[in-house]
Amino acid sequence: MRIDIVTIFTEYFSALNASLIGKAVQRGDITLGVHDLRGWATDVHRTVDDTPFGGGPGMVMKAEPWGEALDAIVPVLPRGDTAPPGDTPDPDGPIPPAPPVGGQGGDAGRARLVVPTPAGVPFSQALAAQYATLPWLVFACGRYEGIDARVVEDARTRMDVDEVSIGDYVLPGGESAVLVMVEAVCRLLPGVMGNAQSASDDSFGGGGGPMAGLVEGPSYTRPRVWRGREVPPVLLSGDHAAIARWRRDCALRRTAANRPDLVKRLISEGHDGSGRPGGPTSDSLDSRDRAVLDEAGFPVTGQGMAH
Ligand code: 6GU
Repeated sequence: MRIDIVTIFTEYFSALNASLIGKAVQRGDITLGVHDLRGWATDVHRTVDDTPFGGGPGMVMKAEPWGEALDAIVPVLPRGDTAPPGDTPDPDGPIPPAPPVGGQGGDAGRARLVVPTPAGVPFSQALAAQYATLPWLVFACGRYEGIDARVVEDARTRMDVDEVSIGDYVLPGGESAVLVMVEAVCRLLPGVMGNAQSASDDSFGGGGGPMAGLVEGPSYTRPRVWRGREVPPVLLSGDHAAIARWRRDCALRRTAANRPDLVKRLISEGHDGSGRPGGPTSDSLDSRDRAVLDEAGFPVTGQGMAH
């Protein structure tokens, strides 16, 4: 997968050199380009923002540098016809310089532009899983009050564009949201995570496994007894069916306690919100599930009966 990130704070993304994602970048399984938007500013001060038309607080990021940056990274013209950008990766920094911009042959149809904004569609495990199937993601990090709206309009004429939010709160810029999204996507790529099984056991059941629509239960490791607290004996029983059942009970109880919205969705809407066909339905709640949810305050006596 190729990932390009345009930002005025390239240093934010040194975090992507750490951990398993950094290893995948080193191996070449992920091609990461982090680009300084100011490289496409034309004035001596490298200005990227201006006051909003119509008044109001804060500053808006200017259309021109954004337009030039996106044209360079996802070329409109065939390779070689695009002027080299003033891209300025720090050669001493931890992030390797991006490959030649436009090196993908200018196939804008292959690029998905993701614009982080609190006004976007909610990011989810399902969207992460969709992004993990794509060959090329381009993230455009806005700061201040956002990017001049014409930039997204213009980009939509030649590539798929998603405006995406990571939650119902306001961040001062898209950088940390992009780190969140890149980490969520990259851990789903083949070979990036050590244990392929882990993804399907995740909270939200991104892999369509037994935890679909639920958050994960607790985990334990040695020592078996710590400060007088024993690991639940079932986990030492070697009875894999009993362990799976116990884990599902824990997941149901924890989801009921922390995410009543997810339990309501499972019960009344009959799906996990993943958008995947063949996802779980309320029929996928067996009698034991119903008993556990009932005890946790969610009577599941029929469709739409819970809360
Ligand atoms: Cl994606 N960006 C910003 N600036 N704030 C956010 C967000 C994104 N998601 C939630 N809040």
